[in-house]
Amino acid sequence: MNREQELKAVEAEVAECTDCTLHMSRKLAVAGEGPADSEIVFIGEGPGFHENEQGRPFVGAAGRLLESMLESIGLSREQVFICNVVKCRPPGNRDPQPEEIEACAKYLERQLRAINPKVIVTLGRFSMARYFPGARISAIHGKAKTKDGRLVVPFYHPAAALHQPKLRSTVEEDFAKLASLVARAQEMAPPDADSPPDPEQLSMF
Ligand code: URA
Ligand code: SF4
Repeated sequence: MNREQELKAVEAEVAECTDCTLHMSRKLAVAGEGPADSEIVFIGEGPGFHENEQGRPFVGAAGRLLESMLESIGLSREQVFICNVVKCRPPGNRDPQPEEIEACAKYLERQLRAINPKVIVTLGRFSMARYFPGARISAIHGKAKTKDGRLVVPFYHPAAALHQPKLRSTVEEDFAKLASLVARAQEMAPPDADSPPDPEQLSMF
């Protein structure tokens, strides 16, 4: 199966998935969207009202802000892959629960394996927690870390900038760093899940 086929397969499975209670209240599941060879993947929290209606990620107010931030650095939403930690809307936009995140993780993992992006941008605390458990967004936003041969960089969720206007310039500054992060990631060895451990790890044995 090539990467497009795998993404389509995930989408089809997600549309019918009943692996957590979120399936009971969803209208449309939201797998995510974007090119299968995207260099950048954005991971949000979960579908909201409009996403649940349309079956597409980030199509409400937070999505418009995300789009304008992308445009400010010369990117359109069609050039990046956008998805969420949970693929079905938590009722009333409540926080996704740990068991829901865990049940849904397999789909995100398959998407990331298929796309193999150079840079992963986490939007908000639930996707951040996947890579930086226990970290505080105020301390680590905009700071890239290397994880498994790619860069992972935590951003504030765009909705945070909508609710706290003071954060807007911080979010803009973080986005402004994206182009150089992608360039930095391009200089690194290509991410490869099966690559041998680095010499430091080997010397432990
Ligand atoms: N907020 C998210 O985290 N994801 C969406 O898709 C929309 C809003
Ligand atoms: Fe399945 Fe994920 Fe939807 Fe839960 S949130 S029903 S695990 S697709």
